[in-house]
Amino acid sequence: MNALVLNCCPVRAGATAFISETVASRLGAHFSVRSLCIDDYQICFCRGCRMCHATAECALDDGVRELMREFEQADIIVCVSPSYWADIPAQFKAFIDRCTPWCDTHEPHAKIPSGKLGYTVALRTGGAEAECLRIISSIEHFYGHLGIKPNGSLVMTRIASREDAEKRLDEQNDFCDKIIRDGIAKASAAD
Ligand SMILES: Cc1cc2nc3c(=O)[nH]c(=O)nc-3n(C[C@H](O)[C@H](O)[C@H](O)COP(=O)(O)O)c2cc1C
Repeated sequence: MNALVLNCCPVRAGATAFISETVASRLGAHFSVRSLCIDDYQICFCRGCRMCHATAECALDDGVRELMREFEQADIIVCVSPSYWADIPAQFKAFIDRCTPWCDTHEPHAKIPSGKLGYTVALRTGGAEAECLRIISSIEHFYGHLGIKPNGSLVMTRIASREDAEKRLDEQNDFCDKIIRDGIAKASAAD
């Protein structure tokens, strides 16, 4: 099984990065893991031209194609997203908008292989869970239109720093263990 862990914000040493590293490391004991940061990729904004509705391809050629190849290879996808103004970071939103060629609401559309399991971690500094649930909803909406099955999520409120995330390792490990169980069950069902 191949797993992809995506840090959906540009901060490479903060709380989101720590959680991404934890997930990648724990999953790495069982699966082949790629750990990436959205900021590794140059992603232009969608121009809303709808050319992809007719051709299933985007006119722009940038890091989106490279990142989508990573999605294609993965059986398990874990997106780790902080709240930026109660929503996903702009870099990740730009990526999702540019995935419109793969969106199943128009024909023709591009396709990634089916059967992938999608997981989400949403974190924020504030205390109300609703803001994290909104982020999870956005990411699961994205998964759904790409044919990725939303299969679990973790809400982490009151995380303002890497140190805060370091103190909450148990929650992260429990979440990882669920992903590992799901992945092992899926692999044995496919045998
Ligand atoms: C531009 C920006 C906007 C943010 N907006 C919110 C917000 O609306 N609500 C919230 O609870 N936290 C907000 N935060 C805090 C992050 O969600 C929080 O620090 C999270 O732990 C990400 O940490 P990291 O940058 O260390 O990965 C914001 C942070 C930034 C940089």
